[in-house]
Amino acid sequence: MELKNLFNSEKIGNVQVKNRFVRSATAENMAEDGHPSDQIIKLYTDLAEGGVGLIITGGIAVDPSSTLSKNGTSLYSDEFILSHRKLTEAVHDYDVKISAQIVHAGRQSAYKKYEAVAPSSIFYPVTGRVPRALSTEEITKNIIPFFVECGRRAFESGYDMVQLHAAHGYLLSSFLSPFTNKRTDEFGGSILNRTKILVEIYNGLRDEIGKNFPIIIKLQSQDGDLPGGLSLDEGKAIAKIISETGIDAIEPSGGGGDLIGTDNTLPSVEIKTPEEENYFLSAAEEIREITDDCKIILMGGIRNPLSAEKFIQKGIADFISMSRPLIYEPDLPNRWESGDHTPAFCESCNACYTSIFYGTLECPLK
Ligand SMILES: Cc1cc2nc3c(=O)[nH]c(=O)nc-3n(C[C@H](O)[C@H](O)[C@H](O)COP(=O)(O)O)c2cc1C
Repeated sequence: MELKNLFNSEKIGNVQVKNRFVRSATAENMAEDGHPSDQIIKLYTDLAEGGVGLIITGGIAVDPSSTLSKNGTSLYSDEFILSHRKLTEAVHDYDVKISAQIVHAGRQSAYKKYEAVAPSSIFYPVTGRVPRALSTEEITKNIIPFFVECGRRAFESGYDMVQLHAAHGYLLSSFLSPFTNKRTDEFGGSILNRTKILVEIYNGLRDEIGKNFPIIIKLQSQDGDLPGGLSLDEGKAIAKIISETGIDAIEPSGGGGDLIGTDNTLPSVEIKTPEEENYFLSAAEEIREITDDCKIILMGGIRNPLSAEKFIQKGIADFISMSRPLIYEPDLPNRWESGDHTPAFCESCNACYTSIFYGTLECPLK
């Protein structure tokens, strides 16, 4: 079988991506005082050389307090633009596109130096902290402008698009979930109210950067087995609202830190059999059905190029996105293009998660 569809060029907004392979956002924890280091540039040029069409960076902090990890990358002030420009230029030398993923850790912040903030004060078992609930004024005067300004800086840094990280229990996703959002103001309650923060960020960014810079989103489509969490039906309703707002692409995801230690390890499921692959396929399929004019990026356990080819060919998704397989094999798209269609060698055991705490991003078992 030829992988005709996977190696076809396609657009997100008006940015042309040379094929359908996306590197899903993967935290590096290798920045130097928040700036992309030479090590990060090497990581991304290796991926670019390996044939992927679009790279999404690991989560970039929109504010000093919003970082995912101690050595996370930042873009919370203009002083970071130059070093990000070095990174985007290096990737562009390979005819590969790069998106900044922008994030606020919110309730899941593990960085003790800063207070954890969230829509509501709900204990987070992984850090043992109770976040402080944000006031309405803080949301409108601080949080939304943090994302808008950071998106503007991504544009000025030469990124081809920006991805809002609204998944995995971090701040934006915690607004969407009824488990973490108990607010009674305009940012809580109904689905429309819980989605308001995303719509306001989207509109603010559009005002700031115009209509030609794609804004994409990694979207919490479900909380998984979390009692009282976000259901897929609610996730779909949120996807519909933001697609109507004009978002250029949705990458459906799910899960978060509250499920760590259970069998349900969403977002990075430990895959033991081929039947466990493609675990966000039905979410992507259902979101595709109810959204128009919005590209769908299928993510989560994509390991087999022949299945991936079929998903694109059938129109279930426009792009496929991978994280762990590209840690093990940065040149996976090239291998598949060369005619070797053996599925990804990654065993999806999640050992790569430990590597980032030691300042590398690799499969320790390789
Ligand atoms: C080491 C590691 C770091 C990750 N960091 C991020 C991140 O910064 N932002 C994000 O949205 N997802 C992050 N993820 C999740 C991945 O993007 C992806 O959604 C998940 O691993 C499932 O895709 P896969 O089966 O292709 O690995 C990370 C995953 C791994 C393994």
